[in-house]
Amino acid sequence: MIDFRTIYILVSYYMETILITGANGEVGHGLIPALFKQAKCKIITLDINELDPDLQKMVQKSVVADINNEEILKKFIEDYQVNTVFHLAAILSTGAEKNPEKAIAINAGGTEKILEIINIVARSRKMVIKFIFPSTIAVYGLPSAESKVKSGAVKEEQFLNPITVYGVTKLYCENLGIYYSDNYQLLTSSQHGFVDFRCVRFPGIISALTIPTGGTSDYAPEMIHSAAQGQGYESFVRPNTKIPFMVMPDAVKALIQLANAPKDKLNKHVYNVSSFSITAGEISDLVNQVFPDSSISYNPDPKRQKIVDTWPEAVDDSAARTDWKWQPDYDLQKSFNEYLIPEIRSKYNKK
Ligand code: SER
Repeated sequence: MIDFRTIYILVSYYMETILITGANGEVGHGLIPALFKQAKCKIITLDINELDPDLQKMVQKSVVADINNEEILKKFIEDYQVNTVFHLAAILSTGAEKNPEKAIAINAGGTEKILEIINIVARSRKMVIKFIFPSTIAVYGLPSAESKVKSGAVKEEQFLNPITVYGVTKLYCENLGIYYSDNYQLLTSSQHGFVDFRCVRFPGIISALTIPTGGTSDYAPEMIHSAAQGQGYESFVRPNTKIPFMVMPDAVKALIQLANAPKDKLNKHVYNVSSFSITAGEISDLVNQVFPDSSISYNPDPKRQKIVDTWPEAVDDSAARTDWKWQPDYDLQKSFNEYLIPEIRSKYNKK
């Protein structure tokens, strides 16, 4: 007779093991509870900082380590028989501009290392490892304010001329992931395909639970969170600045849905995903309606403004909608009325 403990051990042995890097960041705070709720996988994490105790309960093992620590990464991926990696570790656009060398080391160097490791491990196991990579609208570089307005919803292949080191490193990693997936050792081997690279290009993400650090789309979450705390806010971009956004539940949904999509349905490796486009002034108007005491003013920082001015007003995510049935759950109204405002109110306990 097999007892329940043995069944549990056997089931958990065959369960998928997911590694999340940069797990203690904003997206990790959304992704870990969502994966945990599905109860279909074991989660292990790596981050430069200690994992939040609330998340700690949901994971099997968390390691504090730099993403460039090859030895730990390799051992971790081998010991836990990782099948899927969500590689979230990165420095966002404003933070990256303050220290480009560090950003190159983490965003590009860290991704190079983990791709190489999973390629080696997957080949030796003769099993595919999925690599889910969050990219960004920062890979785009529209040449002028006029083109930003005129271009409409930008497709994946257009305007790939990023001006930030964040955009440059993300675009490089997209291409490196595709190389490992499709053309590794093009001349000497036909054994590519052990890395299954899948990537979503995110717009600005707004979470009700956490505030991002070091991004250039941060004015949106900062505005809303400041108002909910009864604080004034000085926006570092002009009120007419328009870029696409989505709320965290949709960002998490996109990552999980792409990870679960049947491979034969994917006609691309890199997909735009989008929900709504809005100006800073429109966000401020919505915030003022809910928190009438909030005072939002504008003091554009020319350098940060220059960055968002090269990002598209909207992206075309029709490929994701066709190939893996991507559809955001939250449009603009629903994002504010059913997610951001109630969750943020309860976070800061405001009536
Ligand atoms: N949110 C990112 C940033 O502002 C853009 O993808 O850097």
